Amino acid sequence: MAAKARLPTLCAAPTCTLLPSPRSPQTNSMAATATATARRNPARPAKAATGPQEAAAAPARDGGTELSAWTSVRQERWEGELPVEGRLPDWLSGTYLRNGPGLWNVGGGGAFHHLFDGYATLVRVSFRRGRATGAHRQVESDAYVSAVASGGPVLREFSQCPDKPGSLLGRVSNAVGILSGAALTDNPNSAVLPLGDGRVLCLTETTKSSVLVDPETLATVGKLRYADGLGGMMMMMIQSAHPIVTESELLTVLPDLARPGHLVVRMAAGSDEREVIGRVDCRGGPTPGWMHSFAVTENYVVVPEMPLRYSASSLIKCEPAPYYAFEWLPASGSYMHVMCRSTGKTVASVEVPPFMAIHYINAYEERGEDDGRAAAVIVDCCEHYGDPAIIETLVLHRLRSLRDKDVLPNARVGRFRIPLDGSPFGELDTALDPEEHGRGIDMCSINPAYLGKRYRYAYACGARRPCNFPNTLTKIDLVEKTAMNWHEEGAVPSEPFFVARPGATDEDDGVVISIVSALGGDGYALVLDAATFQEIARVRFPYGLPYGFHGCWIPDKILTGRFDGNTQVD
Ligand SMILES: [Fe+2]
Repeated sequence: MAAKARLPTLCAAPTCTLLPSPRSPQTNSMAATATATARRNPARPAKAATGPQEAAAAPARDGGTELSAWTSVRQERWEGELPVEGRLPDWLSGTYLRNGPGLWNVGGGGAFHHLFDGYATLVRVSFRRGRATGAHRQVESDAYVSAVASGGPVLREFSQCPDKPGSLLGRVSNAVGILSGAALTDNPNSAVLPLGDGRVLCLTETTKSSVLVDPETLATVGKLRYADGLGGMMMMMIQSAHPIVTESELLTVLPDLARPGHLVVRMAAGSDEREVIGRVDCRGGPTPGWMHSFAVTENYVVVPEMPLRYSASSLIKCEPAPYYAFEWLPASGSYMHVMCRSTGKTVASVEVPPFMAIHYINAYEERGEDDGRAAAVIVDCCEHYGDPAIIETLVLHRLRSLRDKDVLPNARVGRFRIPLDGSPFGELDTALDPEEHGRGIDMCSINPAYLGKRYRYAYACGARRPCNFPNTLTKIDLVEKTAMNWHEEGAVPSEPFFVARPGATDEDDGVVISIVSALGGDGYALVLDAATFQEIARVRFPYGLPYGFHGCWIPDKILTGRFDGNTQVD
């Protein structure tokens, strides 16, 4: 990684580093420390020079109405014990990690304007014996470190180029930088997940944004550098931000912008080498559809091809396309491809109605009654009625200023049915009445034991109108076609993440964890009973944290050996 020595260190305590942000004055900072002993044994409370309660009493920055969700994190890192309201389950032992774009301005200038641009902030909440400790820390990507050193962005983020090159030489230099990948960001602000070998990976959609972190200290360990040679000019420099990870392998999709198509690859646990399972050519053009996530069943990989397609000219010319790096081309068609996981053969490629989906919920095989063979693949997603308007909704000034306006585009649980009998068309229906979840749905999770299998429950962010952003947590029952919703006035919850109770047999036996940004600058980790969807505890951070995208659960067994033999191993 780039030199850490260039990071700002304005406080001697290693757990208190203030960011050089004009919105993070030192008077609002919190001086908290965690001793080395506490880091070895998080069951003991970390000692804080200024306790969480004192920090929480600091005045909100706009008189009590500011929402931390859209405000840059106030300091680079913090660590300490978190007060618990309610009662945490005795069985809840492990670490919840959440990743997201927590810093939208560096050095007093060059502020980003889109939610997706922010530099990655990793948040940790560790649960043991009914107590909780927490931390947050910036991921030290080259993009972040160079921005801090330069006082502004150096690499291209989701929506913004650092500077549009004016001269011919500058334009050529930019094109070379994009084609080689050198000018693209490595800011891994989307997902965080444990690999089967115990390494913990943060990533977003550029391949170079695969960054390994320490799940306890949140320190940046280094890059995951793939040892397979997959890549090249405009090829395979992009990856899905949501690989499917099991104990044995990582499965992902690499869009190919040079020869429009997708490579489906796997990487065995313990390896850095991806192997190609197969390739799917695009049916529409001129480039692949945005590949943020995809779906799998037990035997198949589902590769979506939607009309929001990468804009190669936008990337090379450093000019914004209608949707930043993408353009909406409904005439190019919408397709779903199904690839066999064992042979790499495409077993179905169907045209479907126009759709716009960033996140897939789950998929499974529908079996025929006669012979029990897979007759179709069912794919569920958070679908935006074939309208990419959600991308523009996520511009920061709209999120900050339109809180009371009902400007969140409608979304539904879209259910595709892809026949495996050679039929040319697939179906897209609405899985349940969208009014059940307020006509908003995204940032979804399921019980991971049901990945690729027939399932009943999904957890996601929904809406209580009027709103400009998903503001509820919703539990979807796909059998009864109903939803249960959690809502707190003015609060913005992040992705609800399901954690199963050890030994559970019911699909919804566990808890759901979400980090909530509340009004007044407060914030907390909310723990809901997954079956009843009622709050059982909230764990307060000393101050509200910015909105984050996706989380994961790190079982204690991955952390075994880091502590003093004093942790429970499930
Ligand atoms: Fe995502």
